Amino acid sequence: MRVTEDLEELRESRRSLRGSFGLVPTMGALHEGHASLVGRAREECDAVGVSIFVNPAQFGPGEDLGAYPRPIGRDLEMLESLGADLVWTPAAASLYPPGYQTWVTVEEITRPLEGGCRPGHFRGVATVVAKLFNAFTPDRAYFGQKDAQQVAVIRRMVRDLDFPLEVVVCPTVREPDGLALSSRNAYLGAEERRAAAVLHRALAAARALYDAGERAGEALRAAMREELRSEPLAREEYVSVADPETLLELDRVESGGLLSLAARIGRTRLIDNLTLEGRGR
Ligand code: PAF
Repeated sequence: MRVTEDLEELRESRRSLRGSFGLVPTMGALHEGHASLVGRAREECDAVGVSIFVNPAQFGPGEDLGAYPRPIGRDLEMLESLGADLVWTPAAASLYPPGYQTWVTVEEITRPLEGGCRPGHFRGVATVVAKLFNAFTPDRAYFGQKDAQQVAVIRRMVRDLDFPLEVVVCPTVREPDGLALSSRNAYLGAEERRAAAVLHRALAAARALYDAGERAGEALRAAMREELRSEPLAREEYVSVADPETLLELDRVESGGLLSLAARIGRTRLIDNLTLEGRGR
C-alpha cells in the first residue's frame, strides 16, 4: 500500500495502477462502515484508493473541526489489512493554498435538511469531492447511504459536471441496537450512547407505519417526532419525509421516499435515514 501526502506522488502512483480504479473518500477515524466501502471497492475494482482528509471547508463556525478524531496510524493499519493500494493524506494547506477561490455549488438539493442546518456544508463537500475525483481519476467512487443527501448532491454534481465515473452507494452499517456507525459516535458518553439508539427507533417507527399503509408525509413525520421526544437526551433538529432525488418534502408517499432526521444527543449531532420502497399502494 502506498501512502502519500503529495499530489504529484499520488498522480504518479495512480498512473502506475492498471485496470479499473475505485475511490473511497473519507475523513479518517475509520470504522466498519468505511471498511464495507473499501471491501465493496476491492470486490469490484482492480485497484482501490482511499483519501483521508478532514475537510475544513465542510465545517461551519462552531462545529467540531478541531475535535474531529484523527487516529491516522490506526486508520492506515486498517486500510493495509483491507487491501487498499493507494492512500492520499493531503494537508489542508495544499488543497486550499493561500488565494484559493474556486468552489463547486450544487443548488436546489443542497438547501433543505443538512443544508438548512449547516449552511455552506455541501459547497465544501462538493468542492473537495471534485478535487478528489480530479486527483484520483476513479472509475467508481464509493459512498455510504448514511449520508443520503451527500449522495444525492454528489450524484447531481457528477451528472452536471460530466465526471466520467460511477457513484456506488453502500448500505448503512449499524450497531446491534440500530445506531448507524459514524466517526462522531466516539463523542458519546455511555448514557448518550444508549440514548442515541432513538434515532433508528424513530425511523423504524415511521417505516412501520408506512408498511401498515400510512401514506401521509405529516403522519410519518409525527411518528418520528414522537419517538425522538420519548428520549430526554435527544433534541430534534429536523425530521423529513422527502423525495429521494429532489429532497423536497412529500405530502403523500406514493412511489418511494426517504425518511431522514438529525438530532443532538447531548452536544453530539447525529443523522440517519431509511428508504421507503414504492409499492404502488
Ligand atoms: O462523508 C465524508 O466522510 C465526507 O463528507 C467526504 C465525502 C469524505 C468529503 O469530505
